[in-house]
Amino acid sequence: MKKILVTGGAGFLGSHLCDRLINEGHEVLCLDNFFTGSKNNITHLLGNPNFELIRHDVTFPIYLEVDQIYNLASPASPIHYQSDPVQTIKTSVQGAINMLGLAKRTGARILQASTSEIYGDPEIHPQVESYWGNVNSIGPRSCYDEGKRCAETLFFDYERQHGLDIKVVRIFNTFGPRMHPNDGRVVSNFIVQALNDKDLTIYGNGIQTRSFCYVDDMIDGFLKMMESESGFKGPVNLGNCDEFTMLELANKIIKKIGGNSKISFVTLPTDDPKRRKPDISLAYNKLGWKPKISLDYGLEKTINYFRKSSKI
Ligand SMILES: NC(=O)c1ccc[n+]([C@@H]2O[C@H](COP(=O)([O-])OP(=O)(O)OC[C@H]3O[C@@H](n4cnc5c(N)ncnc54)[C@H](O)[C@@H]3O)[C@@H](O)[C@H]2O)c1
Repeated sequence: MKKILVTGGAGFLGSHLCDRLINEGHEVLCLDNFFTGSKNNITHLLGNPNFELIRHDVTFPIYLEVDQIYNLASPASPIHYQSDPVQTIKTSVQGAINMLGLAKRTGARILQASTSEIYGDPEIHPQVESYWGNVNSIGPRSCYDEGKRCAETLFFDYERQHGLDIKVVRIFNTFGPRMHPNDGRVVSNFIVQALNDKDLTIYGNGIQTRSFCYVDDMIDGFLKMMESESGFKGPVNLGNCDEFTMLELANKIIKKIGGNSKISFVTLPTDDPKRRKPDISLAYNKLGWKPKISLDYGLEKTINYFRKSSKI
């Protein structure tokens, strides 16, 4: 049994991670400032003696005794991270410094939830970890992209300078129950629109592609990376390689939900990447990880969650 800190633990991915760690018998400290997270995501864990909730902002230092740290704290969707860009970059950069400081003091192994946004609007496809990216440093997405890039730099500098035991995963689009219903992420957006019998809004012409990983697969990847051989630091891509156009995704969701929704097209936001798909050979070779859950199965689980949710 380990004592494990999950920052951003009341968010979408963080709450699923807390569930898994508790089920595996660990003691979990869930730290969150509830910027985008919700108590609803973790209410079921509150009575568990192995679970502790800490309301705290990672941009401030904290003193805890832990064996492992998963650093997930950060808004993930453009609507949220652009609503307070300065706080977004502080969360990535100052948050990383504080959590790395905690790892340094306690000797804890620390995993960073990085992102495919590291690659920006990529010039190579699919994206491999050795690709350095094509990122705009001054655009509206930069607070997130550059914040996450700087956090990766900090992780590797703490490793080189202080010998920290670091792990970095680059997460590609992930979906599933407990996604925020109104944060503009495409899967939740389409599902909520279709459940409300509204038209599904596609940005641009809908032929831009994305790959979608179901949350349970992603959490498997986190655990495998955290438990991977010492010395394997990453960064490692985690995501699903099956590519779908936005039009295909919208049509699938309309078909599954039924109703009268149609598709409407709106202007593509600034710096929106046209294609995004991970090369996951490294994850497969080093961790024996690849996604197992199909988009159809994941969509059904997610649609069921949103049908029951009172928030939409
Ligand atoms: N979901 C994805 O597809 C995806 C893709 C790439 C990267 N990621 C990364 O994974 C992590 C989790 O993403 P998610 O989808 O669960 O998003 P989320 O918004 O649901 O969760 C993020 C959590 O971090 C908390 N948080 C934000 N700022 C904080 C701060 N300063 N101090 C403490 N807590 C803070 C939020 O309240 C929330 O609970 C993020 O770091 C995100 O960048 C997610």
